[in-house]
Amino acid sequence: MPESAIAQRHFPYTARVGDASITLRLMTPGDREAFLAFMRAQPEDDLFFLLVDVTTPEGLDHWMGDLQNGRNITVLAEEGGKLLGYSSLHHGQARWTRHLGEIRLLMAPGQRGRGVGRLLGHEVFSIAHDMGLQRIVVRVASAQSSARHLFERLGFHMEALLADWVIDRQGHTEDLVLMSYDVAGFHG
Ligand SMILES: CC(C)(COP(=O)(O)OP(=O)(O)OC[C@H]1O[C@@H](n2cnc3c(N)ncnc32)[C@H](O)[C@@H]1OP(=O)(O)O)[C@@H](O)C(=O)NCCC(=O)NCCS
Repeated sequence: MPESAIAQRHFPYTARVGDASITLRLMTPGDREAFLAFMRAQPEDDLFFLLVDVTTPEGLDHWMGDLQNGRNITVLAEEGGKLLGYSSLHHGQARWTRHLGEIRLLMAPGQRGRGVGRLLGHEVFSIAHDMGLQRIVVRVASAQSSARHLFERLGFHMEALLADWVIDRQGHTEDLVLMSYDVAGFHG
């Protein structure tokens, strides 16, 4: 199911965002070094919230392994060959939560506010939907207002507010917002 669903989306394709042409394509093992360079160039505060620290060889191996076994589907956004950001869908980690998919999204700070993040979010959300995942979730620190807004516009709603579930590099805690989109229409 996953591969055929992804194939239906005709990657790569180019979309107009404002005056720019943005290419969206699926990440492959051949993107390893470019992805590493991109991630290492991101602010530490953004890297701190990754599920896997892909700036280390072990973390990157883990990421590429999941990419190859289909547990991670990542869409890259590029402009003129330059990587601007990515969105990833992680799923099937345990049998009892195999109906869930989790989205992660990161744009380089200098590229934010152009509409590319929304495009990426929408693309990965559509893949999750086409794959038949029943509930799509995203975890967002409460201060990440732009991310919350973006996912609300995609139709996600707040499922839980978990007090002090996030801790930043300086040791300050923050609330975690768990947002979800109920594809199957069930509630519990
Ligand atoms: C979340 C993120 C990917 C958004 O990327 P982006 O390219 O700036 O997104 P867009 O330009 O498409 O903007 C998305 C929406 O957020 C809105 N927005 C931007 N900054 C905002 C802010 N500070 N408060 C509220 N809304 C904001 C935009 O107006 C836009 O809304 P609209 O479509 O209604 O106009 C980017 O901010 C990011 O990488 N943040 C750090 C990582 C993160 O928080 N990831 C999410 C958790 S996985």
